[in-house]
Amino acid sequence: MERSLVLIKPDAIQRGLAGTIISRLERRGLRIVAMKMLQMDKALAQRHYGIHKEKPFFNDLVKFITSSPIIASVFEGERAIDIIRQTMGATDPAKAASGSIRGDFGLDVQQNLVHGSDSAENAKKEIELFFRPEEILSYRRDVDRWITS
Ligand code: RTP
Ligand code: MG
Repeated sequence: MERSLVLIKPDAIQRGLAGTIISRLERRGLRIVAMKMLQMDKALAQRHYGIHKEKPFFNDLVKFITSSPIIASVFEGERAIDIIRQTMGATDPAKAASGSIRGDFGLDVQQNLVHGSDSAENAKKEIELFFRPEEILSYRRDVDRWITS
């Protein structure tokens, strides 16, 4: 089982696409194990996208991601990281496959609707930035229930 941090970005919330995006991920068989709405502050944005701090688009990206509320979530499933990246489509919506979230609803390389972790290592770090362990559900086989840890 893998977990991935998924952010529904400001553009998606403003366009009323949050439900559609969540639904597409659920319909692939992934399970929501944590979810909250929040507005990212500059410090959180700079940490979350720290890997891009030298890129020319970094300041614009921070401005965009902090501009209005987002939904932060954790999705879980077999090979969740790759499956979510596939379901999202390529970073630039103009190049994203039709049938993917970005390919079907996006036009702009920055305002591209959704974030998904790109590796297990980054997923762990990103999830910890947004959620405390007790905010994340996990499946307990012994009692056949989803519980908070
Ligand atoms: P994300 O991290 O948000 O899931 O997106 P990604 O892996 O597909 O793309 P990444 O290279 O990590 O870029 C992070 C976000 O920065 C914005 N971006 N703007 N102006 C530009 O050329 C440019 N390139 C990237 C996008 O919002 C991208 O998702
Ligand atoms: Mg990325």
